[in-house]
Amino acid sequence: MSKITVIGAGSVGATIANDLTIQGIASEIVLIDINVQKARGEALDIYQGAHFGTPTLVRPGDYSDAADSDVVIITSGLPRKPGQTRLELAQSNVNIIKEITPNIVKKAPNALYIIVSNPVDVLTYVFHKISGLPEHQIIGSGTILDTSRLQAQLAKLFHVSPKNVHAHVYGEHGDSSFVPWSLAHISNNHVDVYAEHSPDAGRINWTADEAAHDAVEEYVRTSGAQVIKDKGATFYAVAMAVCHICKCIFSGAGTALTVSTMMHGEYGIDDVCLSVLTIVDREGVRGKIINQLTDEEVKKLRNSADKLKAVIAQIQ
Ligand code: LAC
Repeated sequence: MSKITVIGAGSVGATIANDLTIQGIASEIVLIDINVQKARGEALDIYQGAHFGTPTLVRPGDYSDAADSDVVIITSGLPRKPGQTRLELAQSNVNIIKEITPNIVKKAPNALYIIVSNPVDVLTYVFHKISGLPEHQIIGSGTILDTSRLQAQLAKLFHVSPKNVHAHVYGEHGDSSFVPWSLAHISNNHVDVYAEHSPDAGRINWTADEAAHDAVEEYVRTSGAQVIKDKGATFYAVAMAVCHICKCIFSGAGTALTVSTMMHGEYGIDDVCLSVLTIVDREGVRGKIINQLTDEEVKKLRNSADKLKAVIAQIQ
């Protein structure tokens, strides 16, 4: 079975470790935190419930305990406060990732790395630059959560399962993210014509215009901030999203996910990490799916890239 190391035993890291355990995704989980006592407490609490699900060895550890990990998940960093943008966390969390990276990469050079801390695209980029690891080993959680929020919302509006919704959020995991609506489908129909073919047409409340698109996008873009305002932090949904990435890795089948990876000229974008549909499998990043986007959508993706590059240019 599989060994996963989670760095950072805060709400996000601990919830990921717990969800991995509940879902039986790993046989061994190592929890590392600068606060050793917190990591020990979380690991023990999760381990003591594990036998009700799939028995999993959950233990606290240090970097050397991460040796032979199949996957390392990085969640360390300051969390967003109410009203704060993800980008405002950049310098402090870059400093933290700079400290962690050489230590963990030395011990687990063959692991796949999932970067979760925010601003995730900036940190994924920094991790690329300082880890020296091959690109296929580096996955930023990117807009996978935004995509799940989008799919859940469209599923609700169209009275279908989220699994029938093929619509995605591209770009920055943050304020410049957007939905390429030209690609948004529900059960083989473009989202704007789905109602015409659906048995639920009478109760689908969708105007099939920019206003409908904008309203859903706004809901998705502000969801994280709304949760932070209401309960102080977001961790359940992001933890489920990260577990999903792990399942896709271990399943071995290529799965298309909106995760953050390094751009190499796709859509005219270079040297920055952001999310487009990407195939993830046992080897990590297999490659991106370069869909035909409209000119307007390409412009939005470039805007995301420019925004992230401006932040990267400011950090040390
Ligand atoms: C959110 C955090 C993970 O969007 O950025 O919930």
